[in-house]
Parts: sequence; structure tokens; C-alpha cells
Amino acid sequence: QEQNRELRVRLEQLKKERNAIILAHYYQRDEIQEVADFRGDSFLLAQKAAETDADVIVFCGVHFMGESAKILAPNKTVLIPDERAGCPMADMVNVDGLRKLKAQHPNAKVVTYINSSAEIKAETDICCTSANAVKVIESLDAEEIIWVPDKNLGQYVQDQTGKKLIIWEGYCNTHDMLTVKDVIEMRAKYPEAEFVVHPECRPEVVAMGDYVGSTTSIIDYCKKSGRKQFIVGTEDGTGYQLRKDSPDKEFHFATKFLVCPNMKVNNLKKLVKCLETMKPQIYVPPAVADKARTSLERMLQVR
Ligand code: 13P
Ligand code: SF4
Repeated sequence: QEQNRELRVRLEQLKKERNAIILAHYYQRDEIQEVADFRGDSFLLAQKAAETDADVIVFCGVHFMGESAKILAPNKTVLIPDERAGCPMADMVNVDGLRKLKAQHPNAKVVTYINSSAEIKAETDICCTSANAVKVIESLDAEEIIWVPDKNLGQYVQDQTGKKLIIWEGYCNTHDMLTVKDVIEMRAKYPEAEFVVHPECRPEVVAMGDYVGSTTSIIDYCKKSGRKQFIVGTEDGTGYQLRKDSPDKEFHFATKFLVCPNMKVNNLKKLVKCLETMKPQIYVPPAVADKARTSLERMLQVR
């Protein structure tokens, strides 16, 4: 506690010295969310990174999020507390594989979930996050659409839009672990609760949801709902904002396995250290960033 207090004081000094902003994804540890200037889901954080006038962006999240910030704000320094914070789903698609698929479908547009590398985004027509995936697909006038890398979100978007997608076989190790059986057991335990679920979960689990949405929209939904109890089908870090917004409500995570180990690699100590040393910095080769930027900017323009 005492150590955390000292770290927080040091962080405030460093933030001023460096003119830095701290962005934290809702899946970060509480100790990071507590000190963030802005908390959000992937979409809101990308938007913040694109808009900020700070000189330094400290991105507390996983690597692809830092990369997206750097692509959108190429003249800023983007730091990440620990560069080993990767996303296994983002690593499930590679450039060669995507190029082969594009060659098989030369007229297809490529829609890429933001959970992907800069190199993949550079091969993409438009990006999306879980918050705007349906809108992005609806905005496209294309005979064929290639969707990478999340098969679960792809299936959800296909069901919502009625548009057939060519879906890559990636998935999130954390969300994909949640099963129908887990939800049935939780419903039996908390019969009054609403089940809110992230579309990175398996389609049969998503189908059980009383509400389906991105991290931010789940938080907003629970805040507004008249119900007092919720079974939560997304990553455990979301509990920080859920409880902050609705201290009178109960939130039960659908299993104890809804923890993304990659997101938890970052901690307060590493956050302070990265601002002190200005390392590790996110670097994206300019040629890749220039190509990838178009796909991210198009995403930000979809309303
Ligand atoms: P959102 O931030 O879009 O809810 O996505 C969740 C996620 O898995 C981020 O890694
Ligand atoms: Fe990747 Fe899933 Fe972790 Fe998000 S929660 S960073 S998609 S592994």
C-alpha cells in the first residue's frame, strides 16, 4: 500500500514532466485503472490516442493497442509498461496466410478486428472493434468480405448483419474458454441475474446473452439496467468500472478463468518505470504504419 502510494506520487510528477497521458483498457489491473487518465475499450482508447495533444501516450493494454495508437499518432511517443503483453488472437493470423486468402478472393474487401498486428492492418481495407463491427460491415458495399482474425466475433457479426463473411479461424483464448455449461450453472446459482456477454465468446454462449456487447457497452448497459445482479461474460478487469459505476449492484464473473494473462503482465511499478526510462517504446516501420493508418482512420469515421 505504502509502496503504491509512493509510486502514484512519482507517476504524477513524471506525467507532468513528460506531458504524458495514461490510457488503460478495462482489462488492466485495478492499480493501473485507478491512475489512468482515461479508461476504455479498444475503440474509445484508439479514438483518444488519435485525438490527444499530449506528447507521450502510455498505453496500458496489449501490444496491438499500443501499435494502433502509434499508427494513429505517429509523431507521439507511445510507451507500453511491458512489451511482452501480447495478444494470442492477434498472432493467429499472418501476412502470408492473409495474402493467400486475398488471392483466392481478389474482389473481396478485408475487414480486420483491431486485435491484429500492424502488418495485418496494412493488408486491410477497414478495421473494426467489437464496439462497431456490425456498423463497419453494414457500411461496406462489397460482394465478398474477408474477416480476420476472430471467428467468434465474425460469426456474431454475420448473424447480426445477414452478410456472409469469409471467416478466419482465430479466437481469444480467454473468452473462448467460457462454455454453455458454465453459464447454465451460474444461472442456476443466480436466477435473478442478467447475463451480459462479449462477442469474443463462443456463438452458443453469446446466444445465451441477455445483452451482447463490447466492454464499454456492457458497462453502460449494467449501469442503466434496472436489474441488481449480473453474470458477466467478459474479462475480470471489467469489474473495476462495473463496481465503480454501480456500487449497489452485484457482478459475478461467469468463471474464474475469465482472466487475460497478457493484460495482467502490466502493473503499476512497470508503468512508473516506463515513464521514467521512456522505454519500451512502440515502433512501427513508417511504410507499414502509412498503409495501416488508412484502415484505422476509416474505422474511426464509421458512425
Ligand atoms: P473491446 O475492448 O473491444 O471490448 O475488446 C475486448 C478485448 O479483448 C480487447 O483485447
Ligand atoms: Fe487478446 Fe483475448 Fe487478451 Fe483481449 S482478452 S488481449 S483478445 S487474449
